Amino acid sequence: MGLTSISELCGKLDEKRASKGTSKARERIMQLLDTDSFVEIDEFVTHRCSNFGLEDRKPLGDGVVTGWGTIGGRKVYIYSQDFAVFGGSLGEKHADKICKVIDMAMENGCPIIGINDSGGARIQEGTDALNGYGKIFKRNTLASGVIPQFSIIMGPCAGGAVYSPALTDYIFMVDKESIMHITGPEVVRAVTGEEVTREELGGAETHNSITGNAHFFAKDEAECFEQVKKVLSYLPLNNLDDSPFVPSNDDPRRADLTLREIVPVNPNKGYDVHEVLTKILDDGEFLEVQAGFAKNIVTGYGRIGGRAIGIVANNADVIAGCLDINASDKASRFVRHCDAFNLPIVTFVDVPGYLPGKDQEYGGIIRKGAKLLYAYSEATVPLISVIMRKAYGGAYLAMSSKSLGADVVYAWPQAEIAVMGAEGAASIVFKKEINASDDPSAKRLEKIEEYKEAFANPYRAAERGYVDRVIMPEETRKVLCQALDAVESKRQTRPAKKHGVIPH
Ligand code: HXC
Repeated sequence: MGLTSISELCGKLDEKRASKGTSKARERIMQLLDTDSFVEIDEFVTHRCSNFGLEDRKPLGDGVVTGWGTIGGRKVYIYSQDFAVFGGSLGEKHADKICKVIDMAMENGCPIIGINDSGGARIQEGTDALNGYGKIFKRNTLASGVIPQFSIIMGPCAGGAVYSPALTDYIFMVDKESIMHITGPEVVRAVTGEEVTREELGGAETHNSITGNAHFFAKDEAECFEQVKKVLSYLPLNNLDDSPFVPSNDDPRRADLTLREIVPVNPNKGYDVHEVLTKILDDGEFLEVQAGFAKNIVTGYGRIGGRAIGIVANNADVIAGCLDINASDKASRFVRHCDAFNLPIVTFVDVPGYLPGKDQEYGGIIRKGAKLLYAYSEATVPLISVIMRKAYGGAYLAMSSKSLGADVVYAWPQAEIAVMGAEGAASIVFKKEINASDDPSAKRLEKIEEYKEAFANPYRAAERGYVDRVIMPEETRKVLCQALDAVESKRQTRPAKKHGVIPH
C-alpha cells in the first residue's frame, strides 16, 4: 500500500535520516559550528561503484558529511570525512559532494573548511577516485586567494590526499591524532630501508616543526576547533570583504616604556620579539601562525585600534634573526596570504642578513630569498615597517623596505641601517689602511667605530627618505595606529598580466 499522508512521508524521511546514524564526522561539525547552525546537504548520496562487492554496501552520504553553518555568526561551508565509512576513503560521489560545497563557498564568498580523516583514494573506485581528487585540487587552486580555505587533519591523510590540504591556506593538526604523508612507513622501509614510525614521518609535531607543511598544532580536537575560530575572526569572508573590526578598551595612544628595555642596544644580544609584539598589540593579543617552524621569523595576526593586521617580525633569539630558506618560505607565504585577504602588514625588523653557508646556498637561498622580495614587492595592501635594530643588506631590503613599496617606515633610535655590519664593512673598506698600520687590530677597531659612527644609525636612511620617521620605542603603538589610519584607503593597481612567475 502506497503512502497517503504527509505525516507518513515525514516518518519515512525520519527513518531514512536515522539510518545514516550519528557519525564522528557529524559530531565534529557540531563542535565547530555555532549551535543549531549546521544545515546538511546531500545526506542521501551513495556511490555507484559495482566492483569488489561495493554494490552491496551503499552507506548514505558516501563517507563525507557536507553543508553550511556559521562560526561566530559568520557563514562558512564545511565538509567532514567519516572514517567509519570505507575508512573515509574518497570515491567519485564523495568527491562530488566536496566539490559541490567548495563551489557553493566560492559562489557565495565564504570560507571553506575541510575536516580530513581518510585512507585516501577509494581503491575499489580506481580512476573515478583519482579524478575526484583532481577535481578537488583544481577547485582549491581556483579558490586560493578568493576565500579562506582551512584543512583540519583529524586522522590519517595519506597518498595524494595530502595535496588538497597543501593547496589551502592553513593546515591544522592534532597531536598524536593527525597524520600526513605521501607513503607510509612500510613503503619507506621497502624502498629506502629507513625505519620510521608513522608519527615521526607525518605526525603533527613533524609537520609543525620540521617540514613546515602545517600551520597550527593543537593538543586535542577541542583546542584545534578553538584555533580555527580564532584565525577566522581575523579574516574577511572573501577577498572583496574586510576583516571584522573588534573594538577594544586598550588606548591606541598607550605608551610602553618597557620597550626600551626589551630590545637591547647591544646588537649582539638576543631577545624574544614576541614580548615586543604583545606590548604593542591590542590587549596584548597575538595569534601566531607556524609558531613551531622557522622560529627565526615570527608571523601571525593581531589588532591595533580594533583593526586586524598581519605581522612579520625577525626573532633575534633564534640564529640572531637571520633570514634562511625556511624563514623566507614562511614569511613570503604569509605576506601573500595577507595581501590576498586585505590585511595590512606590519613588519618588525631586526635582521643581520641572510644566513651564510653551503647548506643554505645548495638549498636554494637565492630563490627563496627572492621569493620574499617578490612577495613584498607585489603586495598592494598597506605596508608599515618598524626597524627596531639591525637592518643590513639584502635582508633589510627584503623585510618590507621603502624600496619595495612600504608605505610608512619607522626606525627606533638604535636602528642600524647599512649594507652590512660595521665589523665586516670596516674590514673590507679599510683593508689596506688596516694592513699597513703598525697595530692592525687597534686600527681595525678604530675603523669599526668610525664606520659605526657614520652608518650604524637610522639618520643616514632618514636623510634619504628611506625612513619616514625616527620614533621612540614607547611611541610605537600610537604611531602604528596613526599610520594604519593614514594608509587605510590605499589603492594600487598593477599592469594587467595573467600572473607573475614567483621564485619558489
Ligand atoms: C578503500 C579503505 C581505504 C582506501 C582504508 N580503507 N583505506 N578502503 N580505499 N584507500 C578501509 C579498510 O579496508 C577498512 O575497511 C577501513 O577502511 C578501515 O581501515 P583499517 O586499515 O582497518 O584502519 P587502520 O588500521 O586504522 O588504518 C588506517 C589507514 C590504512 C592507515 C588509513 O587503512 C591505510 O593505510 N589505508 C590505505 C592508505 C593509502 O595508501 N592510501 C593511498 C591510496 S592511493 P573495513 O571494511 O575492513 O572496515 C591515493 C592516491 C590519491 O590516495 C592520488 C590523488 C592524486
